[in-house]
Amino acid sequence: MGEIVFAAKVTHVPSIWMSEHLPNFKGIRQMAIDGLKELGRRAKEAGTETFIVIDSHWITNQGFHLNARARHSGTFTSHEVPHMLEYLEYDYAGDPELGGLISQKIAKGGYISIAHDNPNLQVEYGTLVPMEQMNEGAYAKVLPIAACQFASIEEGKEWGEAIAEAVKETGRKAALIASGSLSHAFWPNRVSEQGLNSINTEFNRQVDLRVLQLWEEGRVSEFLDMLPDYAERCRGECNMIDTAMLFGALGWKNYNGKAEVIGEYFGSSGTGQVNVEFPAAAAAAVKAA
Ligand SMILES: [Fe+2]
Repeated sequence: MGEIVFAAKVTHVPSIWMSEHLPNFKGIRQMAIDGLKELGRRAKEAGTETFIVIDSHWITNQGFHLNARARHSGTFTSHEVPHMLEYLEYDYAGDPELGGLISQKIAKGGYISIAHDNPNLQVEYGTLVPMEQMNEGAYAKVLPIAACQFASIEEGKEWGEAIAEAVKETGRKAALIASGSLSHAFWPNRVSEQGLNSINTEFNRQVDLRVLQLWEEGRVSEFLDMLPDYAERCRGECNMIDTAMLFGALGWKNYNGKAEVIGEYFGSSGTGQVNVEFPAAAAAAVKAA
């Protein structure tokens, strides 16, 4: 029987790429890089065979989509920030079997749900940036899932539950990665360069810190009660649908695992960023109860 053996919410900011490749920005995101590498080490130790990455930078407008290609390879340049992230080379095995099963389960709920095998469908940087740090040597398969920007938190919950069911049935040991920010208010263009390392508004910073406190204390039920407001008022990336899916897969309000922040919360171009592990064993305990 398969299992989600590892779960995390991670950052995917392009400044991670800048930190490693642009001389003027050398080292600016070393703490985030170290955090991603540590999460990757833990995922490997847990026996991960496939990284399921809910990619809040693969933004869709309708339905549930995943990239079920047998191989993901290419050279990526971001259309959004081509000066910050370009020529990222990648080559990972995909997971068509698990992708197909997840898609079928979500379709059963009455949703448009497609496991794509289209060579023109690119992988976005919400998957590529964390995978480059976490999946060293490309030892594990990668299954990118899109974030539908008009889906509700409730839909995200159902989709997360379907992901967990499919993992169980395939027998796969999977790491579930919610790739997206906390608050997500970019600085206006005029001041965006100066704001590279800070968070846009003290309100957003304070709410993000409170959220991390709730996660660290295992107060997931309270967090989920505030999630719709949090996503709206702090301009959640893709309505924080990645976070809704993550908790849906872990057991929603019955999940009370105490999260561990790896490194520190930080600002990037106005947005609030963090790397956090959610204990997968606590999700297994929910299902067993
Ligand atoms: Fe993003």
